[in-house]
Amino acid sequence: MQTEAYGAAAPARLFFALWPPAEVANALHKLAGGVVGRCGGKLLRPDSFHLTLAFLGDVPERRQPELLELAAGIRLPPVSVRLDKLGYWKHNQILWAGSKEPAPELAAMAATLQEKLLAADFISEVRPLVPHVTLLRKILHPGALPEVGPFEWRAGELVLARSWRSDRGAAYDGIERWPLV
Ligand code: 2AM
Repeated sequence: MQTEAYGAAAPARLFFALWPPAEVANALHKLAGGVVGRCGGKLLRPDSFHLTLAFLGDVPERRQPELLELAAGIRLPPVSVRLDKLGYWKHNQILWAGSKEPAPELAAMAATLQEKLLAADFISEVRPLVPHVTLLRKILHPGALPEVGPFEWRAGELVLARSWRSDRGAAYDGIERWPLV
């Protein structure tokens, strides 16, 4: 993930997420690479792997400073993320890594964040979290899925990220980070 100067262009497609450490991302990338070899699909870059907590969609430039201020004022604790299964969603053709038993702390964190975003009118509803890290897109027939990890990490940062769409697919840039304390 790259961090870039923020606020130049408007509007921006934004989301809050947790980023895995490089060793977890690289291990997931290797695992997903094996699936691509057998089944096709488009593998995301390891530094693009993330777990979204709140998706905002397009945020107009005039509201972006307010969003940064809001995020800076939110106090959220660090959280452990365990990835121990792969899943496939046919409707959007993605292969993802998630948890057999998603941690309640993760859902609570997403709910707290989304409630603040709802109150400030950045989103229109609070959605229950389905914690997942998308690994592959455009995969049609995943076949039998391999075992995963388990991979576990302690997330110590909340990341505000921007999604870019191009002919080569989506790319994600971190805009700002806040410590989870
Ligand atoms: P996905 O990986 O399952 O597609 C940037 O696009 C991030 O926001 C991705 O993690 C993506 O999830 C998520 N995202 C995109 N559109 C979304 C939506 N309408 N609701 C919730 N999350 C969304």
